Amino acid sequence: MSEKKIGLFVGSLRKGSYSKVLAHFIEGLSSEVFSYKMIEIGDLPLYNQDFDDHGPVPDSYTRFRDAVKLLDGFIFITPEYNRSVPAVLKNALDVGSRPYGHSVWSSKPGAIISDSPGIYGGFGANHHLRQSLVFLNVFPMQQPESYLAKINSSINEQAEITSDSLKDTLVSFVEAFEKWVKTVQA
Ligand SMILES: Cc1cc2nc3c(=O)[nH]c(=O)nc-3n(C[C@H](O)[C@H](O)[C@H](O)COP(=O)(O)O)c2cc1C
Repeated sequence: MSEKKIGLFVGSLRKGSYSKVLAHFIEGLSSEVFSYKMIEIGDLPLYNQDFDDHGPVPDSYTRFRDAVKLLDGFIFITPEYNRSVPAVLKNALDVGSRPYGHSVWSSKPGAIISDSPGIYGGFGANHHLRQSLVFLNVFPMQQPESYLAKINSSINEQAEITSDSLKDTLVSFVEAFEKWVKTVQA
């Protein structure tokens, strides 16, 4: 089996982001069969259709769209902002979805991990994101779902995951996702 390239999209730009720590851990689960790499989304200007209709198209849009086209699947790792998807992540979805008819998201497997220091684990963001992914014709993994509550109690100030059970949860999630990729691509 050839190497599958999976992009990790993190819904936080914060230096000390818990979501980034989770993404780094998943990068470390890369193998000869599946590689996991974070894709930069913080340099994408807010989507403005005039860029695509009249130009110039920002270089960062082109770089991002080209990078996403090469991927075999996506994992979104995101906090919740005001019970929804952080703007930076929604913006990346929007940038990749245009120009009309040239979306770079379509027909590929995806999965969502939401996390929060709060008790609901980013449930609202998770499901708002799922709604957009369905529209974009991404195939989001149904099970297992992942709502990581009280995430701050499992990550220390050195950005290390201190909970073995969280590590096990992430490993199981990624194993399930790899099966899902094979199912979608069969
Ligand atoms: C603008 C804003 C809105 C937020 N809204 C929510 C929310 O609706 N639900 C929630 O659980 N946490 C909310 N939070 C708290 C975040 O979950 C918390 O800041 C988290 O650490 C952000 O993720 P990160 O560590 O990956 O940056 C919000 C934070 C910000 C800055």
